[in-house]
Amino acid sequence: MKNRTFKNLQEFKARREKIAASMKNSVMILFSGEESGWERFRANNPFVYVTGFEEPESICVLAPGTDKPFKLFVRPRDPSKEIWDGYRYGLEGAQKEFGADIAYDVADFYKELPQILNGTDKVYYSLDGTEQDTKIIRAIKHYISTLGRTGRGMPPIHDPKEILGEMRVVKSAQEIEWHKEACELSALSHKAVMAQVKAGMNEKEVHAILFKEFFSRGAHREGYFSIIAAGANATILHYRDNNSPSKDGDLLLIDAGAEKNYLTADITRTYPMNGKYTPAQKDVYSRVLKVQKALIEMVKPGVSYIDIQEAAREKLTTELIDMGFLKGSVSENLKSKAYSKYYPHNIGHFLGMDVHDNGLYSVNGVSRKLEAGMVVTIEPGLYVPENDDTVPEEYRGIGVRIEDDILVTPNGREVMTAAAPKEIADIEALMAGSNTLT
Ligand code: GLY
Ligand code: MN
Ligand code: MN
Repeated sequence: MKNRTFKNLQEFKARREKIAASMKNSVMILFSGEESGWERFRANNPFVYVTGFEEPESICVLAPGTDKPFKLFVRPRDPSKEIWDGYRYGLEGAQKEFGADIAYDVADFYKELPQILNGTDKVYYSLDGTEQDTKIIRAIKHYISTLGRTGRGMPPIHDPKEILGEMRVVKSAQEIEWHKEACELSALSHKAVMAQVKAGMNEKEVHAILFKEFFSRGAHREGYFSIIAAGANATILHYRDNNSPSKDGDLLLIDAGAEKNYLTADITRTYPMNGKYTPAQKDVYSRVLKVQKALIEMVKPGVSYIDIQEAAREKLTTELIDMGFLKGSVSENLKSKAYSKYYPHNIGHFLGMDVHDNGLYSVNGVSRKLEAGMVVTIEPGLYVPENDDTVPEEYRGIGVRIEDDILVTPNGREVMTAAAPKEIADIEALMAGSNTLT
């Protein structure tokens, strides 16, 4: 059965035109990747970004300025193989349904490569340390050796990210629409999980509920392995066991996002498994929430991400001093980085096809300014080590992070994950069953 994520390929055609405008007398070679064992195959992001095509073992060649600027090398139709692994579009499908100017059997790629390289000044190819690199470099060398005495050396190899990574930073109207779908369904799933969590559940049971909520809302995949951390597990930043029982009084931190249309959400919510924050939990949570809201307000075109990063450190340090967790002035603590005992990570990142998406945060040493169409996360947190005997006992082992996905708009921002409750009153009401689900 034919199965594809993208029905409308106009967006991909527009991308190829934009890419072509940045490529001078050069070719770009992108691989979709190989299937591995029983893992579910997901084509490499740069390949999908350019083609909308998702089959393994495929290769895209962009050669702007030639008579066949968009070439696809694909697996040919093969009824005996398709019985095992499913439908293939084949060469005809690659042209007719995916708009390739020409399609070849992928087995012929290295035979065609000299012709593709003919006269090129530059090759865009992502070196990844595999055997493929050797094959590509050998093919280029061989091609050069056939030219005779031209004075041409090896054409330089550039990372396609130079063009594609930067394009992915500022999203098109279509991409924003697709990304919103992923963010909204993820936010509603977080809300639905919140309404079902009970003290005593194992983290993996919560994980299973989250899966059900993601997939029943049309998610294509889990965008990254979810962090489901009960109690002090929430203080482990990259906790991934998701296999502990919980107890009455534990906080639960869920950092999870669904992927749809090859774009992922990245949301964190932290709430009490029994539905009611303790005074200490409420204290930490309210402070993180206050800081998160203030930082979100900073998001708008022209502001540097680094300024938000610095504001996060300053605001969280102020809270930590107010709580008595840090001594001395804000500036002293910022200088000594004492805050990092409780807030060790950065404030966020670009978000898109990768959870930590492509794109430079500074250019020529200058911090980049936000622009309309960028999507960033804002995710402050405070994590009190379980064994920290410098703070009152009831605070030990509390880990809180609150994370939303923010679209930069021409005049400010839009929180794409707003459907996931984060106000204490809303969370407690939802968990007490006195709020309806959407
Ligand atoms: N979920 C990974 C992150 O928040 O950066
Ligand atoms: Mn994040
Ligand atoms: Mn996250």
